[in-house]
Parts: sequence; C-alpha cells; structure tokens
Amino acid sequence: MSLLELTDVTRSVRLPDDRVLEILRGVTLAVDTGEHVAVVGRSGTGKSTLLNILGLLDAPTDGEYLLEGVPIGRLSARERTRRRGRDFGFVFQQFNLLPGRTALENVAAPLMYAPGRQFWRRRTLAAQMLERVGLGDRLDTMPEKLSGGEQQRVAIARALVRGPRVILADEPTGALDVETGQEVMGLLDEIASLTGAALVTITHDLAVAARAQRHYRLAEGVLVPVDLGGAGHEWVGDVPTLPGARRLPQVPGGVAGVPELSRPVPARTEQ
Ligand SMILES: Nc1ncnc2c1ncn2[C@@H]1O[C@H](COP(=O)(O)OP(=O)(O)OP(=O)(O)O)[C@@H](O)[C@H]1O
Ligand SMILES: [Mg+2]
Repeated sequence: MSLLELTDVTRSVRLPDDRVLEILRGVTLAVDTGEHVAVVGRSGTGKSTLLNILGLLDAPTDGEYLLEGVPIGRLSARERTRRRGRDFGFVFQQFNLLPGRTALENVAAPLMYAPGRQFWRRRTLAAQMLERVGLGDRLDTMPEKLSGGEQQRVAIARALVRGPRVILADEPTGALDVETGQEVMGLLDEIASLTGAALVTITHDLAVAARAQRHYRLAEGVLVPVDLGGAGHEWVGDVPTLPGARRLPQVPGGVAGVPELSRPVPARTEQ
C-alpha cells in the first residue's frame, strides 16, 4: 500500500461564463514513504491544483485519492483538517510566513493545533527545528529582516516541525537565486530523507527536479513520467529553466545520504 495514491483524479471548475475548465483530466500517481517525486510543467497546467489535492486543501472532482489506503472522500471535514495538520507540511514559493511574528513564533505556529505534549513543548521544538536549518541564532528575528533563503529555511522548519509524513513543496526555489535555491533544496532533501517523509516538489527548474528519484511532467491534465537520466530531453523546451540547470548539482555541504539533522547548513560564504 502506498502512502498516497491517486487514481484517475480529475478536477474541473465552472467558470463565470458557465464553461467548464478541466484542469486535471485523469491523474494517476502513487507516492511511497521516503520517496522524492518531482513534477514539472508549464504555467497553468494544474501543478498547484494537484498539490492542493494531495495536501487535502482541495478535493478531486472525480477519481480516487487514497491516503494510507483510506479514501479521503470517506473522511469527515474535521478528520481531513486533522490529517492535513498532522500528516502534511507545506512549503510555498513566497514562503508565506506571518509578518510581525518572530522566526520562532512562525515555526511554533503549527504546534498550536498539535496534541498535548507537542503543544506544551512548542517553543523548544521550534527552536530545535530552527537550529537544524541553521538559524539557531535568529530565533527572535522577524521574517522581514531575513534574506529570501533564510525565510525559506524558516518555512521549511515550520513545514517539518510536526514531523509530517508528506512534504509538499510548490516552487520552493522560485523566489531564490540558483545557488540559494540549491542550498534550500539540499536541506529539504536531507531532512525529508532523515525523517522518512515523502517529498513532492513542483518546480520549473530542472536542476531542482533532478534531485528527485522520480520525475513527471504535467501536461494537458495528465501526468507523464519523464526520465531525467535518459538522452534527448525532448520535454526541456516545454519547461522554462535556467541555462546549465540540467547538470545534476552537488548537494551543498556534500552530505547527500549522510543525514546529520543537527548539522547546520553551511553559510553561503563557506561554499
Ligand atoms: N478555483 C478556480 N477557478 C477557476 N480557475 C481555476 C481555479 N483554480 C485553478 N484555476 C485555473 O486552472 C489552471 C491551473 O491552475 P494552477 O494554479 O494549478 O496552475 P499551475 O500549474 O500551478 O501554474 P503556475 O506554474 O503558474 O503556478 C489555471 O488556468 C488557473 O487559472
Ligand atoms: Mg502553481
């Protein structure tokens, strides 16, 4: 049994002029614990819609979504909300941090809804998580005082603080320069593999996609597997990306597969 399993999932919306827009036309995807799956595709092809469905923020129009073997349609709204908070961590392009709240308060925020022990220990857990992403010395800093890369690291700490089974990242490097983006993805990969969480990354950047074990392109409402290792990347022209981004990058710090969660990310000046 897969952790997440979509079968022939569709999502359509009725537009104000009464036309029906078919965003997803039959998506089938299975993701197992510990897997990293990347989805690329042009703007407007439904990538965020797909991620929102996976993260229980949206529901399929048709088709089946099994979460640990349970059809999500069978869960009550309350149970869906509970599962979303407990099982999923979200990372967005624009970080979506709460302004006017410190890094620590931002990371502790999801623990406000956690059961007893996590709730009572929320500040400690948040501080530990910020330590792990290399921001142990910025606990009381406001997000607006942090660089983009640092803000995304806070967002990663927030996504991971409840120990989710699945991390859903929607263009996590979209607002960062290439080097910082790679650093952030290295961190996300490392923590995901250490905690055994599944990671689904949506990206326009092939270098980011290359970090995943499986790759798909979303086009015309369906997911098509793509082989990044194969010759003739015929799909490259379809995906806006940066020159040279096809080369598989080194993980910052060079520690892929050697999870040391407590090791802070090296400062950029050390690279
Ligand atoms: N609730 C909605 N009502 C109407 N149209 C919608 C709705 N949600 C999504 N769409 C449309 O569906 C299409 C897919 O949207 P989505 O945000 O999933 O694309 P995307 O692949 O994430 O794009 P991008 O790469 O630009 O973020 C878009 O054309 C969008 O305008
Ligand atoms: Mg999107």
